[in-house]
Amino acid sequence: MDYDQTTVPESYDAGREISDDKKREFIARFAQTIGTDAVDKIIDLGCGTGRFSGALADIFDANVLGVEPSSKMIERARAKHNDVRLRFHDAPGEALPVDDSSVDMIFMSMVLHHLAAPQKVALECWRALRSGGHVCIRNTVSDEVRSYPYLDVFPSIQAIIKRQLISRERLNGMFEELGFRVLAGETIWHEIAPNGHAFAEKIALRADSFVAQLPDREFEAGVEALRERALTAPEAVGLRVDLIVYELE
Ligand SMILES: C[S@@+](CC[C@H](N)C(=O)[O-])C[C@H]1O[C@@H](n2cnc3c(N)ncnc32)[C@H](O)[C@@H]1O
Repeated sequence: MDYDQTTVPESYDAGREISDDKKREFIARFAQTIGTDAVDKIIDLGCGTGRFSGALADIFDANVLGVEPSSKMIERARAKHNDVRLRFHDAPGEALPVDDSSVDMIFMSMVLHHLAAPQKVALECWRALRSGGHVCIRNTVSDEVRSYPYLDVFPSIQAIIKRQLISRERLNGMFEELGFRVLAGETIWHEIAPNGHAFAEKIALRADSFVAQLPDREFEAGVEALRERALTAPEAVGLRVDLIVYELE
């Protein structure tokens, strides 16, 4: 998906807001798996508005290069961050602006399903990483499509999600073929909103790329249904997200 052709960048930070604590928690899980001592140079591949870039620099105490092809998204990342450890570069993940074997870790959050050819990006990760380097992925996978909490109100969304998400098996195979090994993999429940009302209002911002692809009528009817349901939905709403670490042997 070309984010510059959509209105997603304008509403992204509000519609996809994650608390600082939650962001740090995600990154800390990766840090526990790979350690922080040998990580000095990180690529935040498909960094978007830089949601995770600051937490990566803080927790790994490292320099972070955010790589992002959408000028609307990267403009927001640059405007938000004023930290010498962070730099942002306008480029696609298929052509990382770094030398061979020069990077310690590559982080990708919710990027894989936007790639026309994810194997090309996996190959670019292989080229850019040093031996023993890591790819850390935070993404939903097609095995967990049922955990999306709005399937019943948007009748055509399940087909859109299934078409775009990659399965756990295909993802592992793609990296293993290149000489990576799966170092860790877990599926966690990620809270999107603390209650039904907050969830409906987040979805109404249309910052979710699957929701952004719906016909307007279906989108509007679905949001109305979510708002109605919110009246009797005090509990938190979320979905299942995979956290995977590949190590380059
Ligand atoms: C859902 S956003 C995730 C942004 C950020 N990683 C986050 O978690 O907030 C997906 C991002 O992937 C980017 N993207 C799309 N195609 C890409 C490509 N070929 N290489 C790198 N990033 C890409 C989009 O422009 C968008 O910013």
